[in-house]
Amino acid sequence: MTTSSSSAAEKNLKIEIWKKVLIVSVVVSLLFILFYLNNYDKNQYILKTLELEGSVKDGKALFKTNCVGCHGITARGLVGPDLHSITQTLNDREIIKQVTGGLTPPMPSFEIDPQNMSNLLKYLNSLE
Ligand code: HEC
Repeated sequence: MTTSSSSAAEKNLKIEIWKKVLIVSVVVSLLFILFYLNNYDKNQYILKTLELEGSVKDGKALFKTNCVGCHGITARGLVGPDLHSITQTLNDREIIKQVTGGLTPPMPSFEIDPQNMSNLLKYLNSLE
């Protein structure tokens, strides 16, 4: 009698444990899917930007309206660092992440469409 009731309790316990395992794996898979989708979008953005042919002139105009407050009118640095020869330390992907990522406050993250991002890259690449 006692053995059968304890085995029923054991069975319930096992079911409870499996339920928890199931819930945890569903949550972990959802997190993976979200992470993947998020990175997929970012990668598509980067690939699209790198495919485009930027314009130094438009990039410079964009820089003047968005970046000079911190990087200086000639990009020689102010609150933010001098950006001349930045392309020797950061590759295009890293620059895109820097500009759109908001990774290093106080520099904000910018929402720039691929064409304008490409123009900006071309301008930064011209600042050798
Ligand atoms: C509110 C001020 C601010 C604005 C606006 C700003 N930045 Fe920055 N930026 C910074 C600061 C501060 C850093 C240094 C962050 C660090 O390394 O911790 C930085 C770093 C960078 C870097 C990396 C430099 C390096 O040596 O690693 C790049 C590239 C850059 N900014 C580009 C831009 C561009 C392009 C824009 C305009 C779209 C812009 N920033 C607008 C403040 C700003």
